[in-house]
Amino acid sequence: MYYLKYRPHTVEDLDNLTPAETIRTILKSKSLPHAFLFIGHKGTGKTSTARIFAKAVNCLSNVYAGKGTSIEPCNVCSNCKSIDKSSFSDVTEMDAASNRGINEVKELIRETSLMPMAGKYRVYIIDEAHMITNDGFNALLKTLEEPPETVIFILATTNLEKVPKTIVSRCVLVQFGSAKIDEIVHMLKRIRIGEKLDISDESLEIIAKHCDLSFRDGAKILEEIALSGKMDPESILKKIGIRSKVVLNEALKKKSPSDTLKWIKEFNASGGNISLLIEELLTDLQNHLLSLHKIPGNISTLSYTLKETIVLMKLLNEAYGLIKQSPYPTIPLEVALLEYCDTIKQ
Ligand SMILES: Nc1ncnc2c1ncn2[C@@H]1O[C@H](COP(=O)(O)OP(=O)(O)OP(=O)(O)O)[C@@H](O)[C@H]1O
Ligand SMILES: [Mg+2]
Ligand SMILES: [Zn+2]
Repeated sequence: MYYLKYRPHTVEDLDNLTPAETIRTILKSKSLPHAFLFIGHKGTGKTSTARIFAKAVNCLSNVYAGKGTSIEPCNVCSNCKSIDKSSFSDVTEMDAASNRGINEVKELIRETSLMPMAGKYRVYIIDEAHMITNDGFNALLKTLEEPPETVIFILATTNLEKVPKTIVSRCVLVQFGSAKIDEIVHMLKRIRIGEKLDISDESLEIIAKHCDLSFRDGAKILEEIALSGKMDPESILKKIGIRSKVVLNEALKKKSPSDTLKWIKEFNASGGNISLLIEELLTDLQNHLLSLHKIPGNISTLSYTLKETIVLMKLLNEAYGLIKQSPYPTIPLEVALLEYCDTIKQ
């Protein structure tokens, strides 16, 4: 799997430069904070960075071991290697999605009173931290406030809203945000070199634009495409569903709710980004509107009437603003397009 093979192993490897710089500064600082909250969209390197951090502070041949000036983990000493294999006694990874209750948290807190065995710090990485129960969070509060000198907590979450303010205020926040298109392209280029892939920059840019702003999804799409052997932009566009916007426009032209819903489902299942899709649809429609009004320089391949164009633009524009508030990003789009089919039919 590319996404595992090309997982970053040093701060330098991280393709998202802002969090990388924050981590570098923290690792260089004289007094290390003891509780962190990594916040960001899926697949932006929170878990990878937490592991890099755990290795850096426990590495046997960097500045933390009194050797040289580098803050990077060496990735070859016995500590780094066993952290990579998840067999290091001083680094504990807990997935709060499956260990979320008070008992698990209490057990973890009990352990924090022990001295590190093979390393300098005991590091606790709590993934999906927003899943911890209220009782669990309460149990964690006191330890987070005054953790033992040799303990570091790294909580990671995609959902800051669900982490109690009392916990948030006791942690140093590191924002991972979403991956940026050019950062994803950079990552894809590393994979291209590593795998000796014959794929153009243009193709990589298309993948980067349609991987839901997640490094992981980008690496997965590239792998799928490399396996299929069809790496030209046309085939990629077809595979990731953008070219088939043509298909969506046909469904809308026919006012077919079932074809429309089917298309959205497929688009979503193949990892398509709904916000980007709406942006593209609106750009196309705007162009179409200009061409309907015979404003020079605007050629459109769409066949909507003026009324259809206006209704569609209005509904899509509304849907765009609702994506962030919806539990599923597809819902505002589905509602908008169904309303369109309905309104226009009458
Ligand atoms: N900053 C990055 N630079 C390069 N590749 C990255 C980066 N972040 C993530 N990746 C790629 O994405 C994969 C998943 O990363 P990771 O598990 O660290 O993300 P995450 O933020 O913890 O995601 P989730 O929220 O889903 O747990 C990595 O194995 C790697 O291939
Ligand atoms: Mg993770
Ligand atoms: Zn090392």
